[in-house]
Amino acid sequence: MWTTRYAHRLAKPSSRCMSSSAAEKVRVTLFPGDGIGPEISSSVQKIFSVADVPIVWEPVDVTPVKSPSGKFIIPPESLEPMKRTKIGLKGPLATPIGKGHQSLNLALRKAFSLYANVRPCKSVVGYKTAYDDVDIVTIRENTEGEYSGIEHEIVPGVVQSIKVITENASTKVSKFAFDFAKAQGRRKVTAVHKSNIMRMSDGLFLDCCRRMSEKYPEIEFTEMYLDTLCMAMVQDPKQFDVLVLPNLYGDILSDLCAGLIGGLGLTPSGNIGADGVAIFEAVHGTAPDIAGQDKANPTALLLSGIMMLRHLQMHDLAQKIEQAIFKTITEGKYLTGDLGGKSSCSDYTNAICDNL
Ligand code: IPM
Ligand code: MG
Repeated sequence: MWTTRYAHRLAKPSSRCMSSSAAEKVRVTLFPGDGIGPEISSSVQKIFSVADVPIVWEPVDVTPVKSPSGKFIIPPESLEPMKRTKIGLKGPLATPIGKGHQSLNLALRKAFSLYANVRPCKSVVGYKTAYDDVDIVTIRENTEGEYSGIEHEIVPGVVQSIKVITENASTKVSKFAFDFAKAQGRRKVTAVHKSNIMRMSDGLFLDCCRRMSEKYPEIEFTEMYLDTLCMAMVQDPKQFDVLVLPNLYGDILSDLCAGLIGGLGLTPSGNIGADGVAIFEAVHGTAPDIAGQDKANPTALLLSGIMMLRHLQMHDLAQKIEQAIFKTITEGKYLTGDLGGKSSCSDYTNAICDNL
């Protein structure tokens, strides 16, 4: 299960040559990203350092380079640290402007086969929205569907985009969703689809979820059309628990769920692959309008960092930092502009450190 695979990294060092403090630390690749990315990454680094989190950061710059085909790509050598550390924390990456460039955010998910995208949307203690007690996790298939990037012009004025759904990816993500629900003590998994329209593709996704559900009799399984679910979600989000969805539906619905609890500035995300490989990321944009002005809200990246700590079995530290964040938000004295305050990113960061 994804929450336990990295426990061995925290084991005591066996080699006498290594200083114990260096050996006990987990190496994590840090992708600070673009725009506000470096500021919010520094905030996470500062808070983690004050909380004594045993992590050594390996920052990498993934500024795109021009490939021989003329497309901008992530420099291949910048993927090396992540191949080694297997765990990453990532700020937002800007996509190169121009025709045909793939989002670098997607390129990273693909490069490391991060097949499940986990987005918990839980009401933030101390931050009131129109909905109370939301506690939903979207589990999004992260490698195919409409995101396959297969598009072409058939004749001028007619383009085609191919949605790929495979039994392999659908089975993997549905297994992940049920394992997740079981490990986290959650009660229900809902498969979201439009198999009334996309009978073969969504039909296959749904079939895989149905088949998987039979192996988990302790977890309630329901299925719902995407449109029906959107309406039900805004009427009463409390009826939902874990949702499993194909890629594009997961993208859209995870934003909707984020909106219920205060927006993308408060929502973490984890991209999980095989054998514990994972990149945790803030999924908001690079906010170029406020970049470099110390105005950004680092909470989404911080909460993604906390998901990462739980993935690494550092539960006490995760709990401690999470409480400090919620305390700071509840106190309301040092909130950034997006949360209705006037404080800088640094003031908010310092307030969290004081609450640790
Ligand atoms: C997300 C984002 C990305 C996506 C973008 C930045 C490519 O919206 O992570 O939800 O569409 O998956
Ligand atoms: Mg999105």
